[in-house]
Amino acid sequence: MTQYKPADVLNVKIMGNEQTMHGLFDHLREHDPVAWVDDPEYHPFWTLSKYEDIKRVGSSNDKLLNAPRTVLLPIEVEDMLTAQFGNRNGLETLIHMDKPKHLKLRRVTRDWFLPRSIAKLDAEVQTLCKEYVDRMRDMDGECDFIKDITLLYPLRIIMSILGLPRQSEATMLKLTQEIFGPSDPDLQRDPGSDDISMGTLVELGEYFTEIVEDRKKNPSDDLATVLANAEVDGQPMDKMDQMSYFIITATAGHDTTSSVLGAGMKALLENPGQMALWRDNPDLDDGASKELMRYVSPVRHMMRTATEDFELRGKQIRAGDNLAIWFPAANRDPEVFDRPHELDITRNPKQHIAFGYGEHMCLGMHLAVLEVARFYRELLPRLQGIELAGEPQWIQANFVGGLKSLPVRYQLRD
Ligand code: HEM
Repeated sequence: MTQYKPADVLNVKIMGNEQTMHGLFDHLREHDPVAWVDDPEYHPFWTLSKYEDIKRVGSSNDKLLNAPRTVLLPIEVEDMLTAQFGNRNGLETLIHMDKPKHLKLRRVTRDWFLPRSIAKLDAEVQTLCKEYVDRMRDMDGECDFIKDITLLYPLRIIMSILGLPRQSEATMLKLTQEIFGPSDPDLQRDPGSDDISMGTLVELGEYFTEIVEDRKKNPSDDLATVLANAEVDGQPMDKMDQMSYFIITATAGHDTTSSVLGAGMKALLENPGQMALWRDNPDLDDGASKELMRYVSPVRHMMRTATEDFELRGKQIRAGDNLAIWFPAANRDPEVFDRPHELDITRNPKQHIAFGYGEHMCLGMHLAVLEVARFYRELLPRLQGIELAGEPQWIQANFVGGLKSLPVRYQLRD
């Protein structure tokens, strides 16, 4: 039996595999739910694995800040980023900042992501679902569900919302993977380096600068126009804030959604009864999509920094301490979810916190649920059979996780 320890949250081999990751979280929730991790390569931090604690931390943004340490990065990388960019994260996007600035910037696009705005995208989302399922059909009964389908479809949607052309998709996909998968040897830009590459950020910056210039001259009804012309406190949005905003909207939404679609398919393949039940019951679309969010929880962690002392489960947290909150651990807490390791599309997974909790709760959550629901509504009734055609491969990461390959064989009707 594997002997897990709290510092294993830093081990991307353990974290980059659903089974060992949940083995670790089961262990931590039971034996050390508020654990201190002191590893020579990282600044020390608390690691939280109970649902109630994580929710409490998420909803206490006054006392637990997103800055200055937003995600887990090795000391060497934090030092390098601080030297180059003046902060430990390299980027300063919505997830990296606190109020009052966070609220002001979030307000710029908030309306775009409300359910009533997302509902307007429904027809386009459905058209794209058909396009990508047709693409599967045209692949002669075999494809890599991740590389050929799930990485591309959510990307197309976010590109379309931003108003960016199809020709830029390949570049955007690669740059996003370099940002979110820097610890995976297959996805790194600079082999052997764990860091978010400087080249990646420069390339993204140049790309979005051109877009901003264009939308200032030629405004249209896309999100890029909103960002290009946004004002904060009556002034044009700061240029760096604008670049960071483009980066977070262009990148936060597709690897995550792709991961839910991909690892979700693996879960459905392992639970054929659930797949059939969903196929035959369109009224389950919304709940089943949320259950996949809970089950997959692609964003593994976020960090918060305490501004004052407090006690948690008998442990003394000090002002200045950093806390890592693990969403997949919360979403399989048996005190909150019955049979937490079972995929059950009929359960009411409303309480899941795959989108985080509190002031930073995911801006794109309604869009993500719609994308997953519509995709499976298009795919499932057309599938006459589907099976694994090779070994699924996980991304070695402890920030945004998921599958990088899922070979499948299937029969699909028109
Ligand atoms: C399955 C899909 C998705 C998951 C699981 C997910 C999860 C998350 C999580 C956990 C956070 C951080 C919450 C916190 O710190 O408490 C977040 C923030 C964010 N997400 Fe998502 N997300 C998904 C899809 C999307 C999509 C489609 C978009 C669209 C652009 C998006 C945009 C954002 C943005 C802009 C933030 C920063 C919000 C803030 O700090 O105020 N996400 N997301």
